[in-house]
Amino acid sequence: MDTSGAQEYDRLQELKTFDETKAGVKGLVDSGLQKIPQIFVRPAEELAKDLNYKRAQIEVPVIDLGDLEKTHRHKQIVEEVRIASETWGFFQVVNHGISLNVLNEILDAIQKFNEQDVEEKKKYYTRDNTGRVRFNSNFDLFTSRTASWRDTLAISFSDPDQINSDDLPDLCRKSVIEYSKPVSNLGNILFGLLSEALGLEPEHLRNMDCSEGHRFSCHYYPACPEPELTLGTVKHSDLGFLTILLQNQIDGLQIFFQNQWVDVQPIRGALVINIGDLLQLVSNGKFRSNKHRVVANHLGPRISIACFFSGPINMDKVFYSPIKELITEENPPVYKEVLLSDYMTKFFTVGLDENFLVNYCKG
Ligand code: OGA
Ligand code: NI
Repeated sequence: MDTSGAQEYDRLQELKTFDETKAGVKGLVDSGLQKIPQIFVRPAEELAKDLNYKRAQIEVPVIDLGDLEKTHRHKQIVEEVRIASETWGFFQVVNHGISLNVLNEILDAIQKFNEQDVEEKKKYYTRDNTGRVRFNSNFDLFTSRTASWRDTLAISFSDPDQINSDDLPDLCRKSVIEYSKPVSNLGNILFGLLSEALGLEPEHLRNMDCSEGHRFSCHYYPACPEPELTLGTVKHSDLGFLTILLQNQIDGLQIFFQNQWVDVQPIRGALVINIGDLLQLVSNGKFRSNKHRVVANHLGPRISIACFFSGPINMDKVFYSPIKELITEENPPVYKEVLLSDYMTKFFTVGLDENFLVNYCKG
């Protein structure tokens, strides 16, 4: 008897049943369950492997963006950005110019969206990845090995001045619009600094449209009764150029650095910045798109809002390849040219994959 086949069938059925509730992980928690369903339990060998890692005491760099306009400080900041981007691929920023009030409002609004009457929330639940506003639990539910303990509201827009506000859920419309402008502006500033850190003109990455295309993933990680058995987000690197992440005070984000998991301590008012796969590609490997994950937690909810800058959203014939100015005889291209639309389609088909860049873009 093919028992593995039988198990597969059960899993698929369980995934479907869960998906059809349209209530996400929050719905499971509300039903009062004490044990997490099998679809969320990581394979035994994966759990065992995790026990081998040390818990690191080091901390991701924090960069103060205040005084950015002062010439001598500007140079130092570019240098700090360069070092962090070449090593960690991650840093936190403080004094970034977005008010604590705007940050708190959007965290609060995302919490309200998730905690509203489930019948209202269900209206946004979808598996169609093409819409501008989509709510679901695990965009890759049916392709991933293990489901993750989180629900996500995804919102995409090209230009913060042209968000179609009618599409946005009532409970978070105002705060999403208010956050979208300053976060887009901060993205522009960071792409300037990153260009300089690569030894290029400040406009270089912006002129390549790297700062175009804003994709918000607003995550809600409910408290988990058995956090050691599952994850909030599996190990992955981000597919775009750059991510600006806002998190509340519940920890969970970890970076895989020097063969150990490093916790990213939430700092009130700070934002976490990380290099994505496309920036690793265009920088020809000079900048690192590092692996990270979110562990589940007895405490909750953890709320985070990732803003991915991943190039033009309406993207006919947009190609990316290693920047010519960075290529020399000693430093030949390590990645091939990608067509952005193909790259995105592959991502949504494969789901979160820790080796996405190597598998699809290696030259
Ligand atoms: C992501 C991600 C981290 C978090 O959305 O790609 O890594 O803290 N999120 O939610
Ligand atoms: Ni990520």
